[in-house]
Amino acid sequence: MASRNYFMPFWFTISLVFLLLGLKVSGCNHAEGYKQFNGTRYQPKQLFVFGDSYADTGNLGNLGREFTRSWYYPYGITFPRRPSGRFSDGRLLTDFLAAFLGIRSPIPYKYRRVGHKLLPYGMNFAVGGAGVFDTGNFQRNISEQIDLFEEQIKEGVFDKCELKKSAVALLTISGNDYSYIAERENSTNAATNYIPKIIKQIKRDMKRLRKLGLRKVMVTNMHPLGCTPLFARGLNYTDCLIKANLGSRNHNQALRAMINKLDPANQSFLTLNLNEPFQDIVYQVKGAKKFKSPNRPCCESFRTDGYCGQIDEKGSNQFTLCSNPEEYFYWDDAHPTQAGWAAVFESLKDPIRLFLSL
Ligand SMILES: *[C@@H]1O[C@H](CO)[C@@H](O)[C@H](O)[C@H]1NC(C)=O
Ligand SMILES: *[C@@H]1O[C@H](CO)[C@@H](O)[C@H](O)[C@H]1NC(C)=O
Ligand SMILES: *[C@@H]1O[C@H](CO)[C@@H](O)[C@H](O)[C@H]1NC(C)=O
Ligand SMILES: *[C@@H]1O[C@H](CO)[C@@H](O)[C@H](O)[C@H]1NC(C)=O
Ligand SMILES: *[C@@H]1O[C@H](CO)[C@@H](O)[C@H](O)[C@H]1NC(C)=O
Repeated sequence: MASRNYFMPFWFTISLVFLLLGLKVSGCNHAEGYKQFNGTRYQPKQLFVFGDSYADTGNLGNLGREFTRSWYYPYGITFPRRPSGRFSDGRLLTDFLAAFLGIRSPIPYKYRRVGHKLLPYGMNFAVGGAGVFDTGNFQRNISEQIDLFEEQIKEGVFDKCELKKSAVALLTISGNDYSYIAERENSTNAATNYIPKIIKQIKRDMKRLRKLGLRKVMVTNMHPLGCTPLFARGLNYTDCLIKANLGSRNHNQALRAMINKLDPANQSFLTLNLNEPFQDIVYQVKGAKKFKSPNRPCCESFRTDGYCGQIDEKGSNQFTLCSNPEEYFYWDDAHPTQAGWAAVFESLKDPIRLFLSL
């Protein structure tokens, strides 16, 4: 699906040439004043991604199997048929969104020097494990990811005027802030108390993205945390942990209120509702795509405190792997399979189409 767009449209070739020459792209001169999109038609052709493992396509460095399992077997077995740093068996949200926009999946920041030919499609700054605040594992928080984006603009890799005409941003916030706090303070309630603080920081980050020229920003809401295999395992994969799901609901209510206030006309910001499709699939609501035992992950560690991809000193696998990841919604204890993301993305298409006037 990502390989569909090998050709580079003429328009892109031109802008790339200008970028490489470090010239200001003409036709942007009236951009300063245009408050609406009337001047030049907005065409989303560049994707800039910030966030965590729901969006990371290779930024998290390989720090060994335990910390960065996404660089080890069996991650990536479906696509690209080897580990690629994606926390899934294959493609994830970033890849599906890029394909929907008709572009290639944007180059991870980490590979920007070797991936020149992908620069016209934007850049992915997301890092697995990241949160809006520091999450204790040296992952770049969202503010630092935005710093890097700003740096790329300053270096002339991306042109601010061009961004206004053709860029879309994706921001994923999938709960690392909460799990870090819950662990640090040994309390789920403590995590709930942090909701206002986290929403406030998300707001700052969103405003900053818009200021940097990203006029269309999509933000994920929180999936039902209590339905992830991490929590469902304790319930024998027959149910979700209600308390954790309530946390997601509270986060989402606060997020919605914040965004409605920030952008009442729904012009600049779109909430990507992950919660509903995840919930519908897990609870097998009528009409939702059917998965075999939707709480159970395809890749399951032997021990509750183990992880997918774990091996012992002798090198034997400490996990079971399903034979067909297509049949599973969850890949590991926290992340969907490629098939899972495909099903979720189906329900995001209409809102995205509307938001971007596709
Ligand atoms: C831009 O388009 C909107 C809606 O289509 C219209 O109301 C507005 O007058 C236009 N502005 C300019 C400067 O053409
Ligand atoms: C992001 O990380 C940097 C470096 O660790 C830190 O200085 C900054 O305060 C963090 N930002 C937030 C919002 O936590
Ligand atoms: C965490 O909290 C639980 C129950 O509230 C308690 O049993 C446990 O000892 C605590 N663990 C630590 C490391 O404080
Ligand atoms: C969990 O499910 C398995 C089979 O699905 C069953 O054999 C087992 O008794 C269940 N355990 C509990 C604690 O419900
Ligand atoms: C903006 O979106 C929210 C839901 O996210 C909706 O309640 C509201 O009516 C929308 N506003 C407009 C002007 O369409």
